[in-house]
Amino acid sequence: MQTLPAGPESIARAVRLLRDGGVVAFPTETVYGLGALAFDRAAVARIFEIKRRPSFDPLIVHVLDHRMLARVALELSALSQTLADSFWPGPLTLVLRKRAAVPDLVTAGLPTVAVRIPSHPVVRAILRGLGDPIAAPSANAFGALSATRAEHVAKGLGASVDLILDGGPSEHGLESTIVAVEPEPALLRPGAIPAEAIEALAGPLARLSGGPVIAPGLLAHHYAPRTPLRLIDPSAVPAAERARAALLALREEFAGYAATRVLARSGDLREAASGFFEALHALDALGLDRIDAQPLPRSGLGLAMMDRLERAASGG
Ligand code: TXA
Ligand code: MG
Repeated sequence: MQTLPAGPESIARAVRLLRDGGVVAFPTETVYGLGALAFDRAAVARIFEIKRRPSFDPLIVHVLDHRMLARVALELSALSQTLADSFWPGPLTLVLRKRAAVPDLVTAGLPTVAVRIPSHPVVRAILRGLGDPIAAPSANAFGALSATRAEHVAKGLGASVDLILDGGPSEHGLESTIVAVEPEPALLRPGAIPAEAIEALAGPLARLSGGPVIAPGLLAHHYAPRTPLRLIDPSAVPAAERARAALLALREEFAGYAATRVLARSGDLREAASGFFEALHALDALGLDRIDAQPLPRSGLGLAMMDRLERAASGG
């Protein structure tokens, strides 16, 4: 495994590795991805091995444009097309009817495929060089915190990845929002695009979190640090419980905690989201007894962060 700054030469190297069945980690605008050629079953199988990911959890396929999209998905419904026009390239994943050519391992045998057109220049340059779609989950061990920096990938997946491209910290810092349009518009995972922005075009979305496990980030104990985490109003935590604990707070410190990460002094949820996983990684690395996470507003990007925190807190 090697980490290289993302540039024309390292991108060309990534393309060669992927073409030969390799597995490469790269930056996207949401979080880092761990990619392989979507049509190469053996390469995709390596992603599952490296992540220690159960094979019932399908992957997101990344495509450069609508032409590449047509190779993995059947024709888009009118609403899917509207959402694609509004949010692509960018952090929206659409669940679409799949083409037979997409390996079952990618979709966990589902008749649908999750797809997005990313906006980050590095993953776009790789897709352009490759000319083929890339299946890529987030570049973290299954159930662990997502990676928003190349160092997180190296620490979490280490030697098993053929190449890590370092493109600096992720812009959004949260995974893409996953939406299924059929049979009814549904939010499968809150993410970097606020649900409200999608509902403005699609009408009310069914909220499937907690329902049957259609999507996977829907598994309860996901996005978890190693340190036990609880969601709690810090002002209600007795001083004696703060000394060996870390605090993840939105706007301000609370006295007595061994360590604190403030997500955004202004309270701006976009700023908070961009440093969210980074802050969790940093607090987790301290090896304290517990992380107390202050509840965030459940609107806009707060919904996506609360989703990650609730899963992290669920403990199993
Ligand atoms: O921002 C992102 O989406 C990042 C970057 C790398 O693109 N990727 C990412 O992938 O978060 P991953 O594998 O960590 O999460 C993808 C989620 C999984 O929970 C999976 O179950 C769900 O997408 N998914 C994939 N295919 C699906 C399908 N056909 N139907 C429903 N959910 C699907
Ligand atoms: Mg993930």
